[in-house]
Amino acid sequence: TLKAVVFDLDGVITDTAHLHFLAWHAVAEEIGITIDEVFNEQLKGISRMDSLQRILKHGGKEGTFSDEQCLALATKKNAFYVQSLASLTEDSLLPGIRDVLADIRTANVKIGLASVSLNAPGILRALGIQHAFDFCADASLIICSKPDPEIFLAACAGLNVRPEEAMGIEDAPAGVEAINAAGMLSVGIGSGLNHAGLQLDSTRELTWKCLTEFWASRTY
Ligand code: BG6
Ligand code: MG
Repeated sequence: TLKAVVFDLDGVITDTAHLHFLAWHAVAEEIGITIDEVFNEQLKGISRMDSLQRILKHGGKEGTFSDEQCLALATKKNAFYVQSLASLTEDSLLPGIRDVLADIRTANVKIGLASVSLNAPGILRALGIQHAFDFCADASLIICSKPDPEIFLAACAGLNVRPEEAMGIEDAPAGVEAINAAGMLSVGIGSGLNHAGLQLDSTRELTWKCLTEFWASRTY
């Protein structure tokens, strides 16, 4: 039986994926690198420092900045990002999220969070949903970014369920890979997530009914 549902945060629970993009876009422009939304797909689910490395590589500037300069750039990005988070309120949940969280809880299935964002605790508080989760993996303890399964395995361990008893929900290719590599069932939200066990166009379709039907139809 299904014992837990583990959520990604940015781009699944709230639309912060776009705010991450805007902050990186501003920092990248300052060092002469232009990034667009297509390239940004490769940054979703990737930690702050790894994201910076990908941007530098994308702009042909890999290895041009010292560790200190990289840290300063990442800190600047985070300052822009945190500023933009001030606009988050309890109304910033993506469509359907409040209902699906409530329905999962009513069904007595555990709810976990697997976000590599160090800002996750603050975002949950701003959204007023910090109590909706039985366990949130601590991003500061995670060594390997998605697509490594580490954070999803940490979430399952914290929830005290086996990965085969859980499903994960993601908006990023790297995140879907991480769920699959953990041995969990994967749900992808948005386009281009061909490796997800179930692909949905938006969180509007992410209903408890849809999740239970998917669970019942699994083939392993
Ligand atoms: C992930 C986002 O959830 O968190 C990435 O998808 C982001 O875009 C990563 O880089 C780390 O976030 P933060 O808030 O610690 O910089
Ligand atoms: Mg995401």
